[in-house]
Amino acid sequence: MSEDQKEVKQEKDYSKYFQSTFKAPSLKEARRRRKNTIQYLNDFSIPEDMKTIGQGKQFMIQTYGCQMNEHDTEVMAGILSEMGYTATEDPEVADVILLNTCAIRENAENRVFGEIGHLKTMKRERPDFILGICGCMAQEESVINTILQKHPQVDLIFGTHNIHRLPQLLKEALFSKEMVMEVWSKEGDIVENLPKVRNGNIRGWVNIMYGCDKFCTYCIVPYTRGKERSRHPKEIIEEVRSLARQGYKEITLLGQNVNAYGKDLKELENYGLGDLMDEIRKIDIPRIRFTTSHPRDFDDHLIEVLAKGGNLVEHIHLPVQSGNSDILKIMGRSYTRERYLDLFHKIKNAIPHASFTTDIIVGFPNETDEQFEDTMSLVKECEFDGAYTFIYSPRAGTPAAKMEDNIPMEVKKERLQRLNKLVNEFALKKNSQLYGEVVEVLVEGTSKKNSDVLSGHTRTNKVVNFRGPKSLIGELVNVRITETKTWSLTGEMVKEASVISE
Ligand code: 5AD
Ligand code: SF4
Repeated sequence: MSEDQKEVKQEKDYSKYFQSTFKAPSLKEARRRRKNTIQYLNDFSIPEDMKTIGQGKQFMIQTYGCQMNEHDTEVMAGILSEMGYTATEDPEVADVILLNTCAIRENAENRVFGEIGHLKTMKRERPDFILGICGCMAQEESVINTILQKHPQVDLIFGTHNIHRLPQLLKEALFSKEMVMEVWSKEGDIVENLPKVRNGNIRGWVNIMYGCDKFCTYCIVPYTRGKERSRHPKEIIEEVRSLARQGYKEITLLGQNVNAYGKDLKELENYGLGDLMDEIRKIDIPRIRFTTSHPRDFDDHLIEVLAKGGNLVEHIHLPVQSGNSDILKIMGRSYTRERYLDLFHKIKNAIPHASFTTDIIVGFPNETDEQFEDTMSLVKECEFDGAYTFIYSPRAGTPAAKMEDNIPMEVKKERLQRLNKLVNEFALKKNSQLYGEVVEVLVEGTSKKNSDVLSGHTRTNKVVNFRGPKSLIGELVNVRITETKTWSLTGEMVKEASVISE
């Protein structure tokens, strides 16, 4: 692109895009959307004139954030491949670079802006590549404003509901001199037949639902990902079956709030995640996982089904966020500390060998020392196998962002440090209990640090490293644990077939 073209971009008035395609997060409006009906589409295809446009060209997608984003990247890679593009990991040679972004916390956004800055410099030397921003940040008005003001070199912006429009949008970006932007604030429909290029052939992700209607007061997801909408069970089961036929060994069912699965499927009365899992467990595939759970909708039927074991692995990720009922209330989590603990113990009694992980936020507005101590005591009671811990980060447009962010950063950091120390102690304790035991490991590849060492996960989602031939990659192997650390286990392969449940 010439300097003149860049000038054109800078001068352009983008306000029309906001009126027609974009609205800032509004809780009131977003809540009304529950009544909206969604459409199931099966008509995705690449326009004739775009089918070969990528021949001889390369694309690179840089992914930030959660597994949902990782999986969206697989879909975009699928679409671009059908347009003739091939993948590269080298930005210097890529003809299309997409940043699939995450908006969950400010530091995630800062990393993306850092990368945009870096790619801008590259665009000075190589103006012809297309730079696109997609994912959750593209759904935020403040982000779009920043890009318009500071990064006019960006060629393409599209939101999480516009992924299936990538061929048309890319075409516009290739042939127009202006920045191309398409961000629907209304939740998208469900497009069933999108192509995917999956990352690897051992573990696969399958979306079971999109969006979130929980509206936890700190969270941007219900705005960036739209309303809860479930895929039909038959589509999900067909996708899992197809992956099983292709030899995949593990499936993770994905959704922002999987326990709400089925609530919007009016034609299937009372069909929930338990029913879906009960059908999926009959498919001949060694391991099924699911994420992410919300304690509120985790029902007895699901617990009953999970307790059947088999290919339903014993790992439960159950975000608690805080151990104090008053904080949980202002977080809008709709359960108390006691209800969380009841549920936790109920699951633990039903599936005694299950591992538990959680998410915790520290420094939510007004969180007192005593309230934080409640989180510490909850962690002590649950003895989690691991936890993702975060400092509260205000997100523009969410209800919590209107509360004063009044916990000083040193206090937040100190709480996080103390919490992490405790979490690590329990992670080590839990891992130590496996010393000398034989566990089943799905071998996913070689260790990052040493290519002679194989690496994989147990059913309970713990990392195990052991020495063995590369031919075992993709296989389930029995390993005796000989060394236990906080975040991983080391072991040696054993011949015997009997594997204890961890
Ligand atoms: N600040 C800090 N952490 C957050 N999370 C979600 N929103 C925020 C926020 N504004 C955390 C929650 C959630 C995880 C994916 O990210 O713990 O479970
Ligand atoms: Fe965000 Fe999860 Fe709450 Fe939904 S359930 S609003 S994704 S934290």
